[in-house]
This record gives sequence, C-alpha cells and structure tokens, in this order.
Amino acid sequence: MSDNETDVLVVGSGIAGLASALAAAREGADVTVATKATRPEGASSWWAQGGIAIARDDPEQFKADILAASSDTADPEAVDVLVENANAAVEDVLLETLDVEFDTTGMGEDEFDFGREAAHSADRILHVDASTGKHVHVPFLNYLDDHDDVTIRDDTAALELIRHEGRVHGAILESDSDFEPTYAGAVVLATGGIGDLYPRTTNPAGSTGDGIAMAALAGADVTDMEYVQFHPTVCVANDSPFLVSEAVRGEGAVLRNGDGERFMPDYHEDAELAPRDVVARAVKTERDATGEVTLDVSPLDFAGEFPDLVEKCEDHGVDYEDGIPVAPAEHFLCGGVDVDEHGRASLGRLYAVGECARTGVHGANRLASTSLLEGLVWGLRAGADAAGKEIDVIEAPDLLERDPELPERFAEEKFHRLRRVMDEYVGLERDPDELGRAMSVLRRLKGEVDAYTRTRTSRSLYELRSASVTALLIARQAAENEESVGCHHLVETSADGGQAPEPRADD
Ligand code: SIN
Repeated sequence: MSDNETDVLVVGSGIAGLASALAAAREGADVTVATKATRPEGASSWWAQGGIAIARDDPEQFKADILAASSDTADPEAVDVLVENANAAVEDVLLETLDVEFDTTGMGEDEFDFGREAAHSADRILHVDASTGKHVHVPFLNYLDDHDDVTIRDDTAALELIRHEGRVHGAILESDSDFEPTYAGAVVLATGGIGDLYPRTTNPAGSTGDGIAMAALAGADVTDMEYVQFHPTVCVANDSPFLVSEAVRGEGAVLRNGDGERFMPDYHEDAELAPRDVVARAVKTERDATGEVTLDVSPLDFAGEFPDLVEKCEDHGVDYEDGIPVAPAEHFLCGGVDVDEHGRASLGRLYAVGECARTGVHGANRLASTSLLEGLVWGLRAGADAAGKEIDVIEAPDLLERDPELPERFAEEKFHRLRRVMDEYVGLERDPDELGRAMSVLRRLKGEVDAYTRTRTSRSLYELRSASVTALLIARQAAENEESVGCHHLVETSADGGQAPEPRADD
C-alpha cells in the first residue's frame, strides 16, 4: 500500500474517531487518523466533565429518560442501539482495554460511584472527578499510538472529500501547508462540534463543523441542524469561560438570580435538574431580568466532591463560596450528517460518528452524559463496518497550485460577523422573521468566502468555509422547522406591532 493509501481514513481524534480506529484495526484494517489537534486538548472529548452514562441493570429506564429529555423526538430504534450496547462497550473498551479508573465508592472493588445529572431518573453516570473526558481520551490516544495498524497524523486537516459517482474514495489532507490526496476504502468523519460558530462555547478552538460541511458539499444528507444545545452553567467570571458540570447541580447546587432568589422551581418541577434546554432558557431569562445568575454550591461539599472544578475556579480567580457567575454557552449539536445504526451516511463508503453525526439518539435535545457513550458505541460500529473495503485511486480535486495565503483580517472579520448573526438570531431563542434575515446575511457571507476558495487554499480559509456552510445549514433548517421543541425554541419578538431589529448593513 502506498503512503497516500489507507484502508480506513478517520478524520478527527475524539472518542468517536478513536473508537472507529480501534474497531477497524481489530478487523485487520490499516487505519490513518487525521486530526487538526496538536495536543489532546484539541478534541472536545478531552473537555467532557460529567461522565459517561450506562444502562446498568435498567436499560428501559435509561431509554425512557433519553426519550423524555428529547421531548419524544429521539428515534426509539437508535436509542435501543445506544442503550443495548452501552454496558458492553464501556466494559470492553474503557475498562478492559484502557483501564480507565472511574471513581468508586470505596466500598469494594468495582463499586462505582455512579453520579446523576439533569433529567436522569437514576444514578448511572461513570465519572472521574469532573474531568472524565481527559481520563478516557489520553489513555485512548496512548493505546492507539502504540498500535501497529494505526497511524495518528496530528496537525493534519481534511479539506475536501474525494467523491466520484455517489461514493467517497478519500480526502484531501493538509499538513504544514502541503495538500495531498489520501485514498481510502472508507472515510469516517469524526470532526466534533460547531462551537466556533458562536461567541461563547464549551468546545475547543477549531470546532468549525468541518466534517458536516465536507459531507454536505459532497452531497450527503445532513439533518436536525437546528437542534443546537446550549449548556446552562458556563462560568463567565472573565474572558475565558469554562464549563461547570451539571453533576454539580446533580449533587445539590442551586441557581440564584441577581436578587439572590432561587428561581428554577418556578420554571420546572425538576428545578435545577430539569432538561438542559429548560434550564438554559431560564438562566438567560433571569440574567436578562436581574443582571446575573450564580450557581450556589453551598448545599454540597464542593471542595470534597469536585476538586478539579475548585482548581479551575482558583485558576480563573473565582471565589466559589460567593456563588459562581454562570451563563448559557453553545455546547453540543444534536444534528449533523445523517447516519444509520452503523454510522453509514447517504454516500457510499462515508461514515460519520460522534458530534458531527446525526444518529437520531438525541432528537431535539440531548440527555446529559450521553455524548461520550454515543461516540463510543457508534464509533465501534462504524469502524467495524468500514474495514475491509477496496481502495480505488481516482482523480482527486486539484488544490495544489493555489496561493496558500489568506489575509488574517479577512478570516477574523468574517468569523466575527458570522458569530454575531448566529448569536443574535440563531441562538437559544429564534424569531421566525429574524431567521429569514439571518439566512440572507449568511448566504452573502458564504458567497464571499466561496469566492476566495476559488483562488486560494489554506486551512484557515477552509475552516471559514466549513463554518459558513454549517451556519447556513443551521439557519436554514431552523427557518424550515415551525415547531418549537427541545433546543429549537421559537419566539415572536416582532409581535404586537414591534419591529424585529434588521441585521445591520455591515452584517
Ligand atoms: C456536563 O458535565 O455538564 C456536561 C455533560 C454533557 O454534556 O453530557
């Protein structure tokens, strides 16, 4: 096999991508993982705090909780796949292969300290303190680094899929400003989320929806893009926001408004443990009305239970004893590349797993601590299915002879404009009239970026292109969906004669 051929090309190195690589390698495939990340922190999985939910001995109740959190919009068959494979996948990969040391109760070997988060009706979340992601992600990377059949190419971006007659044959990869086709029997997209489309996010930098954009541009189906989940409790004490896990509310922390009043019982019978979309909107409403919302951690032993978060507060100069100032931030995209129960997209030999995929498990709203699990379960299924396919070397799109320079100011200005439109019009609350206007702005912006991609090639330009394609997909699918449900919450700000503000001319 030549250097630019591989049986399975995985794009992205979060838990979903790594699980695909593992499963494909177990089937005897030669696997290449191409990842933009240069450090483990470059993958969203590294940042996951709460943990990984499993079915334990009550899969029916787990399934019921997932469906209820999604307001019954999740696909029950996809939820069955998740729930029925949860225990075995965690046992096989995380416990037996990687030896992840989840927190225990200290009452005996394997007596796991199962946690609970919003909208879960049972304690079923395996965790390591409040930094589960890195305790899973780092051993996974190390394990695959040592694997003879897996090559991990850091600091390597996929710019475009190589497609011919409804089938994907590989991708153009960029590394160190060199552009080369890599041919593969199958391509697994595992590129994570879209946090870079919003001004405040829990995702790492570079979350520009690359896999979704590449798949959409190649003609694959992309659905449920309007369901963008905002996490309700992101610490906003200064310019570097950080996530405060829902597990903290699971242990008893309460939310207070600027007048010091606890408000969640007025919004939902489950108060702070209501579904995430309900809590996020309540936090926004109370911040708008009273100026501030804080997470009061005095009802629990915060220092004892969450030493990682205490350290984070200290690093950010936050005195948690006064309450942690919080606001909602973009956290997770429930939609993405439409895939089946094996992660197969609508184009031949193309797979998508993890946050960039739409499996149907989350519907309009994801239940907490199911994203690592979904990535693991679908990653294993997709990787196993993707192995063993013939590699065809066909003519690739030629990106080689173009000027690699992109004026930095051009990208900065476009990203700034895109984030402002997404934040104001395609955020936690959407006005149908404003969605139409946001689409025109985003269409124009995409046109300007497209004009550049006809004459230039660079990673930052392609990230901008991914962001503009993905933003437009979100706005368009939001405008097409007239039902307010889960993360897609419609409001009529222009009702009773008032005019919705026009995006400004410079938008
Ligand atoms: C959290 O720890 O609150 C985030 C967990 C998740 O998004 O599932």
